Amino acid sequence: MSREHRHLTVVADADALAKAAAERIMACIAHASGRLAVCLTGGSTPERLYALLATEPYCSAVPWNRVHWFWGDDRFVPQNDSRSNAGMARRLLLDRAPAPPGNIHAMPTSAGSVEKAACLYETELRRFYGAEQLNPERPLFAMVLMGIGADGHTASLFPGHAELGETERWVVGVDEAGLKPFVPRVTLTFPTLASTREMLFLVSGKGKREILERVLSGGDLPAARAYAEGNVVWLVDRAAAPESRHVA
Ligand code: 6PG
Repeated sequence: MSREHRHLTVVADADALAKAAAERIMACIAHASGRLAVCLTGGSTPERLYALLATEPYCSAVPWNRVHWFWGDDRFVPQNDSRSNAGMARRLLLDRAPAPPGNIHAMPTSAGSVEKAACLYETELRRFYGAEQLNPERPLFAMVLMGIGADGHTASLFPGHAELGETERWVVGVDEAGLKPFVPRVTLTFPTLASTREMLFLVSGKGKREILERVLSGGDLPAARAYAEGNVVWLVDRAAAPESRHVA
């Protein structure tokens, strides 16, 4: 990941991280005119953020009719399964806000297979985008939220997996996850995740310090390979931040 594309901000703690992320998302939404798409991430880190966005002043400031919500990846489980990324975002945010049902584009994890789910989701993304090829001048997303796993994965793009090299397909199925929960996954590929005005990584907790250090120093890890047509911003709390990057 080239340095000139990386902006890293260290904040005090998990609550400050959620607030800073909420502010960035609101700024991103305000900057976009007309219909726009936000791509959500899963795991536990964004839970505070999603819960915060469902409260004031954020909830009434979101132009819910204009914003469409997608996911960068999901576990191949029903939405009422506690491991579902879409289920988590619905529970904490989307079902608590006036988000039109047609604006919520969850991955079809009830499809017959991860491959079928990936094909269906790719069709949905292309239909929303209105073209068969992504144009770097016209990003699909206004904002893509990303996390990083302890193994350096991001979305459901795991170290050593063939999906890392996929450049044609927008969405792929992952039969075997490289980290818990060990359930099949559906994930956007790097080029699709990159089609965004801003990619925002959220990293929290001391358990991420070591892997974050490796990513930031250019380790060959999926989270380091992620890129964006627009800005890549890393929002990190002090517990996760390498010592060298602590604010004064
Ligand atoms: C997922 C996520 C994944 C996540 C990291 C970090 O489906 O698991 O999309 O990429 O961002 O695994 O997860 P935590 O926030 O739980 O550490």
